[in-house]
Amino acid sequence: MSSPGLSSPTPPCAPEDVRRVACVGAGVIGGGWVAHFLARGYDVTAWDPAPDAEQKLRRLVDAAWPALTQLGLAEGASPDRLTVTATLQEAVADAQFVQESAPEKLDLKRDLLRQLDAAAPAGVVIASSTSGYPMTDMQTEAADPGRLVVGHPFNPPYLIPLVEVVGGERTSADAVAWSSRFYEVAGKSVITMDREVPGFIANRLQEALWREALHMVANGEATVREIDDSITEGPGLRWAFMGPMLTFALAGGEGGMAHMLDHFGPSLKSPWTRLEAPELDKKLYDAVVAGCDDAADGRTIADLVAERDQGVIDVLRATGRLRTQGEAK
Ligand SMILES: NC(=O)c1ccc[n+]([C@@H]2O[C@H](COP(=O)([O-])OP(=O)(O)OC[C@H]3O[C@@H](n4cnc5c(N)ncnc54)[C@H](O)[C@@H]3O)[C@@H](O)[C@H]2O)c1
Repeated sequence: MSSPGLSSPTPPCAPEDVRRVACVGAGVIGGGWVAHFLARGYDVTAWDPAPDAEQKLRRLVDAAWPALTQLGLAEGASPDRLTVTATLQEAVADAQFVQESAPEKLDLKRDLLRQLDAAAPAGVVIASSTSGYPMTDMQTEAADPGRLVVGHPFNPPYLIPLVEVVGGERTSADAVAWSSRFYEVAGKSVITMDREVPGFIANRLQEALWREALHMVANGEATVREIDDSITEGPGLRWAFMGPMLTFALAGGEGGMAHMLDHFGPSLKSPWTRLEAPELDKKLYDAVVAGCDDAADGRTIADLVAERDQGVIDVLRATGRLRTQGEAK
């Protein structure tokens, strides 16, 4: 979607030469980005307007550090290389890359990207973690929209490799290419999209699955625990190393995907088209929240985060995808 015809000032350094990264918005995702960049040996500045943001951020980094240490820290990597600033302007003043992870509200993102664009050095690429807004809709207020890209991570950004990169109509093709390369150098696995798609790729898929899960809870067809077990004891095991398409191709036996579609396609027309979004009323809301409490079996969020982190590391290790320091593509 980015435009080869649009140009912005050239980024002040090559993706390989970045040393200082700014993270603006330091909640679950911004904090996860901070932990990732620190572990990769960058100097990180962060800004978040919440009064308790710094404490929360440092707690998140401390909780992530054991997992990151297992993965292998870059030389000199340290939580001490994090500076939390009092203003947005200070955070980005010397940054060579900016990652925005503020709340998912369109007006807020538009205004924040305008401010970041006004404060960051000319040409520095600014990426948004948005889960679904097209950059075309967010870059409307910025003086230099050419340097604004989406860099959509997955929780937690310090462990899940994927980042989906896509520009908006006014993003320069150079900014898209620069940010894709930067994320690779910073240890991420990148999909660079050539057009804006609602929910990008992975969220669009996750949202479809979640929609069906919410319908099942709403209709009393399955509990939260059964839904989670159905994935972790079933297809989720395959998806960790082979995506849904190739997995289904194998379900077609020697005839592969062609046989699969001939065999099951006609009977799947109805489930493919049956459902619309569930009504997220109070009853469904309460049932999903209570179901998650039940499935947690007394484990706190911190317990679950530690369990998840170890699980992701084990899966990456078992499937030969544990990318340690210095293994950027
Ligand atoms: N949670 C996920 O799984 C996930 C995954 C991928 C992407 N994202 C995206 O990441 C972004 C952040 O989501 P999150 O889950 O970390 O939310 P969050 O609520 O955990 O964190 C948001 C943070 O932004 C701060 N904030 C509020 N106003 C701000 C402003 N004007 N400028 C800067 N910061 C501000 C808040 O104080 C808070 O710390 C969203 O765009 C979201 O769609 C979330």
